Formats: sequence, C-alpha cells, structure tokens
Amino acid sequence: MTHILFEKKGNIAIALIDRPKALNALNSEVLNDLNTLVDTVNADPEIRVLILTGSGEKSFVAGADIGEMSNLTKEEGEAFGKKGNDVFRRIETLPIPVIAAVNGYALGGGCELAMSCDIRIASDTAVFGQPETGLGITPGFGGTQRLARLIGPGMAKQLIYSARNIKADEALRIGLVNAVYPLEELRPAAEKLAETIAKNAPIAVRACKQAINEGLEKPMDEAIVLEEKLFGSCFETADQKEGMGAFLEKRRHEPYQNR
Ligand code: CAA
Repeated sequence: MTHILFEKKGNIAIALIDRPKALNALNSEVLNDLNTLVDTVNADPEIRVLILTGSGEKSFVAGADIGEMSNLTKEEGEAFGKKGNDVFRRIETLPIPVIAAVNGYALGGGCELAMSCDIRIASDTAVFGQPETGLGITPGFGGTQRLARLIGPGMAKQLIYSARNIKADEALRIGLVNAVYPLEELRPAAEKLAETIAKNAPIAVRACKQAINEGLEKPMDEAIVLEEKLFGSCFETADQKEGMGAFLEKRRHEPYQNR
C-alpha cells in the first residue's frame, strides 16, 4: 500500500491514510489501497478491531481528489462514484468493528469514509462537512445515504444543501461522532476503546455487528429473527462456554479464543 501505513498491536490494527501533499484526499490510488487494506484485514484472524485515521495533525481525509475528478465525463463520474462506494461498502461490512479516529478535516469523501465505520470519535480540531454542492456535484461516496441514516434526513439535508462545515462540538451534538478528545488524546482513546472491544468474545462482537447492520435493513419481525439466529449460534462457541462458566464459578474468564 502506497498511501496507507498499517500497524498491528496485538489484536488491533491501525491504518493511517497517508497522502500528506493533498491532506490525505482520496484519489484512485488511495481507494485501491483501501481495497488492499480490507483484503489484509479479512485475511488475518488475529485482527479483532480496525482503527482508521489520517496521518499528520491536520486532516483525516479532505475529500475525494478534486484534481482527479475535475475533468470526468458523466460515465467516468459514475464509475468513480462506484469505485468509492464499493470500497466504502466493503469497509462498512467488514465482519469486525471499525473505529474512525477523525483527527482533522473530514470533508466530502472524508466524512463519508468516517460514516462507513462503526464508531466515530474525533479530535477537538476535527471539521466535518459535505461541501459537494459548493463544487457543483452531489456527495458521491455514500453521503446522501449514510448521513441521512445517521443524523436524520432533516439535519442531513441542511448540511448537504448548505455545504456548510461544522466543528467537532457540533458533530457531537448532532450525533455524527460519539466523543471528542484533545488531538493528542485521540489515538490513545481510540486504542483504549479498540482494546476494550477486542477483549470481548470476538464471535459475539461480530454477530452483534451483523445483527445491527443487517437488522436495520429489515422489518422488525425479520430483524428479531436474525438476532435469534445469531444469539443461538453463540451457544456453539467455546468462548460462550468459558464466559458463562467463569461467571458461575465466580472467576475471571480466560482470554477469549475466537472460537
Ligand atoms: N482534493 C485534492 N487536493 C486537495 C484536496 C482535495 N479534496 N483537499 C486539499 N487538497 C490539497 C490542496 O490542493 C493543497 O495542495 P497544494 O499544496 O498542491 O496547493 C493541499 O492539499 C493543502 O490544501 P490547502 O492549501 O487548501 O490547505 P488549507 O489548510 O488552506 O485548507 C481545506 C484545508 C479547508 C481542507 C481545503 O484544502 C479544502 O477545502 N479542501 C477541499 C475539501 C473538499 O471540498 N472536499 C470535498 C471534495 S468532493 C468529494 O469528496 C466528492 C465525493 O463525495 C466523492
């Protein structure tokens, strides 16, 4: 990967989007690297949580690359949107939880990338927005869909139509992020949260992600059946036996084995 720095710490993986000359903007190369990142994470059963962040102190991702987009035809524009949408969907549907640690600008494709993650936390320097209508386009990597689902259609429409950027405190108030930290505390906070998640039974955590993501797409009567199936499947795992056995024997459970 040319534009992603990848590091593993125990059961956690940290991926830094690293294209400093363009504030980590997403050109085709970065989108290809994100696909490679998904392949890498999928191939490694040790990884239980992925943290996505931007390298440097200024930007998470400053959007899709405006230089690359500026001369696209209608067909090429649609294809570029599909390229971004496809890899963001792969990130959203990774079996393990993904935490976006938003360390600065998260504009356009950057905000959309953060919204493809399960959990968003931000630095107090973070700036969010969908500036696309100010550039003569719509959001193209899922912004019209995920922003409306996350913060509700009324607020999403206001942000998208106005192309207004918001700071971290407003992002927190409207539920776009879960927590805000001083910049230097963001990475440690992301790692602490990831470690907390990674200590829980991995098969159960993955089943919860699947139940929430797929359940939200279904009517409630079908969604609760999905939960029942996933709940039931946990009873075939060694980690369930250990977790409940430890409780009943009044001892700490052994580290979960992911089986
Ligand atoms: N695409 C390409 N290059 C970008 C970029 C982007 N989205 N964002 C920043 N850069 C480049 C700048 O062109 C500049 O390059 P040069 O040094 O070669 O001139 C470099 O990064 C540093 O940027 P600035 O000098 O502009 O830095 P700043 O601190 O003055 O401003 C900023 C920072 C407010 C983020 C500003 O760079 C900016 O507004 N960037 C564009 C943000 C944007 O509109 N993003 C949405 C893109 S559209 C999209 O994402 C569509 C989609 O949904 C798929």
